[in-house]
Amino acid sequence: MLVTLKQILGKAHRGHYAVGAFNVNNLEMIQAVMLAAEAEKSPAIMSTSEGAIHYAGMEELGALAHLAAKRSKLPITFHLDHGKNVELIKTAIKSGLYGSVMFDGSSLPYEENVATTKELVILAHKTNVSVEAELGAIAGIEDFVTVADRDAHLTDPKQAVDFVKRTGCDALAIAVGTKHGAYKFAGDSTLDYARIKKIASVVKIPLVLHGASGVPENVKKVCIQYGCDIEDAKGVSDASIRKSVSLGINKVNIDTDLRIAFDAGVRKFLHDNPKVIDPREILKPAVELIAKVVAQKMRLLGSSGKS
Ligand code: G3H
Ligand code: 13P
Ligand code: ZN
Repeated sequence: MLVTLKQILGKAHRGHYAVGAFNVNNLEMIQAVMLAAEAEKSPAIMSTSEGAIHYAGMEELGALAHLAAKRSKLPITFHLDHGKNVELIKTAIKSGLYGSVMFDGSSLPYEENVATTKELVILAHKTNVSVEAELGAIAGIEDFVTVADRDAHLTDPKQAVDFVKRTGCDALAIAVGTKHGAYKFAGDSTLDYARIKKIASVVKIPLVLHGASGVPENVKKVCIQYGCDIEDAKGVSDASIRKSVSLGINKVNIDTDLRIAFDAGVRKFLHDNPKVIDPREILKPAVELIAKVVAQKMRLLGSSGKS
């Protein structure tokens, strides 16, 4: 069943759990997310980045996701992730395919971020599309040399209050020390928990954690065993995610972990089955592995059984 982001996150906000937003780029990723959601009886958010749209097409991905969601009784949102191109976001809103869009104006001057977010919120809300906005620079905590540097880049709670009030956005992505990709930390995985707690106490809409992949050891091991060079990859620990959710995060974005699982599944299968040339056979174990990873995230976030 297709629903808006606001519906899914409103329930998560009231119930103090989080829902995973999983990036999908093709049929197999969509199949894997749905397999996991059905197994866990969990709501799910299927995200398409601008890159995914460039790769596979907005209408193509939308059609696949809509079919899958409409056949299911679970609440599913089809979401535009990190929209930076305002024209593309407007196209997404008008397409009727998206339950939500994200406008990522985090690199813009503050007033410009406010103005564009507000303009998109007004447009999106006319057709019941939810809007996620972003404030602060999503960068690893180890990237900041001083406390002042960290304060200047991570989301400022006071500014977050002003931003939400002035834009009317439905969810807010905050910067608390995670970054995108497979290389997040050299040392321990630690986030600015005090900042999450403070923002959650003053901002009354659902908060979003980006760059939340964990780079699970068991999947990374298979990847490396079959030739992938990701020895130094390190993600956000499960404990850090659990703590972030307990402090007020309601949407957790995961892309890298699905990529690693896809990679591990394909590499292992091709190594073990050198005579197989049928893509359907080659991709099947990858779908199953991605589904396992997604299901584990649903349990970690507390969305299992919350459909
Ligand atoms: O946050 C970004 C996602 O990981 C999407 O990555 O732009 O390569 O599709 P992408
Ligand atoms: P990861 O790279 O940690 O999976 O983050 C994905 C993300 O934030 C998508 O918006
Ligand atoms: Zn992101």
